[in-house]
Amino acid sequence: MTIGILKENEGENRVAMLPESVATLVKMNVSMLVEAGAGERSFAIDAEYEASGAKIMPKAQVIAGSDLVIKIQPPTTEEIAMFKSGQALMSVLNPYFNTSLVKELADKKVTAFSMDIVPRTTRAQAMDILSSMATVAGYKAVLTAANTLPKFFPMFMTAAGTIKPANMLILGAGVAGLQSIATARKLGAVVYVFDVRAAVKEEVMGLGGKFVEVEGAIDDKSAGGYAVEQTDEFKARQAQSIHDQAVKSDVIICTAQIPGRRAPLLIKKDTVEAMKPGSVIIDLAASTGGNCEVTKDNQTIIHNGVKVIGNSQLPTDMPTDASRMFGKNMINFLKLIITKEGSMNLNWDDDLVKGTAVSHDGQIVNDRVKSLM
Ligand code: NAI
Repeated sequence: MTIGILKENEGENRVAMLPESVATLVKMNVSMLVEAGAGERSFAIDAEYEASGAKIMPKAQVIAGSDLVIKIQPPTTEEIAMFKSGQALMSVLNPYFNTSLVKELADKKVTAFSMDIVPRTTRAQAMDILSSMATVAGYKAVLTAANTLPKFFPMFMTAAGTIKPANMLILGAGVAGLQSIATARKLGAVVYVFDVRAAVKEEVMGLGGKFVEVEGAIDDKSAGGYAVEQTDEFKARQAQSIHDQAVKSDVIICTAQIPGRRAPLLIKKDTVEAMKPGSVIIDLAASTGGNCEVTKDNQTIIHNGVKVIGNSQLPTDMPTDASRMFGKNMINFLKLIITKEGSMNLNWDDDLVKGTAVSHDGQIVNDRVKSLM
């Protein structure tokens, strides 16, 4: 089979595979086509892809010559127009929000896989691009905060006196939040953490964070390790507790999410207004509505002296390792559908193949997308 890698749209610095991942696929007897310049914003030049065994060509030829096309961002309308019936696509389609895009792909008879919905089972851990990108985002959020805060993170005893460490508040201790705790602790900040899942308390403490407990959280074990919507009574109690901690904080990193829903609103406008001027809020949940009431997605604003950075796209700011992780996750998924001889074999009885597909043979094949149409 032939796999083609497309150059991403303007504003996206990552590429779906670095040359090292291309070399792995070539060893798996796959022919590789790469759009000219695809890796340049991740600092991988065409010559490196060629040395890894790929052919470099323009976009239209990559799409025309590939059985499977790979891209991080969803394909543009112009790209979809270049697809032929029966071709396959792997991308991050955000299909529960982009239902019309899924319909377009189904109408084109493209077999589309959306890497953001790989079922989160133990077997799929090595394919989980959400965890990989959350790791990058959690790390980068802390560095962005350290760069923006007009204070040190660590405590210093100097001849000019003692400098107190920065106080950090992290909302949500999933993959991104845990990485933020680890990074902030390495830089010497004092870290307080809120989450509604009791299971994360030990992990938070193990990383040196202080877990702030709010009684009465609904922790639904049947939600697959995810958080669920909380009662109004709990929300009010949690809001007060977060407010009390926020006003003592120099930095807040927001990572709380509930899959398929608006992100929980955890920091009210009044809380931001009660914080110290010069403090920084980084809201990684900005694209799903934000954890902070004043967050504006893709914008940095100053509210009453507090800098609020709404950015859910931080992985694009660390493109080399983000692309490396993305490519490795992709290869682990591809191993499910590539035979020893290098041909494509879609096994629809495999829960991971089935669970990641959104369109096939002219049909939308994901029940949740269908119910949202
Ligand atoms: P996420 O991005 O959906 O949420 C981030 C965090 O926000 C979660 O820890 C959640 O509990 C927390 N949160 C939600 N509502 C909140 C509220 N009102 N107040 C405070 N915190 C709130 O989660 P993520 O990071 O994608 O994964 C969550 C869990 O899923 C992991 O810790 C793990 O148990 C499981 N997981 C399993 C994988 C696998 O088996 N392949 C891969 C990745 C995650």
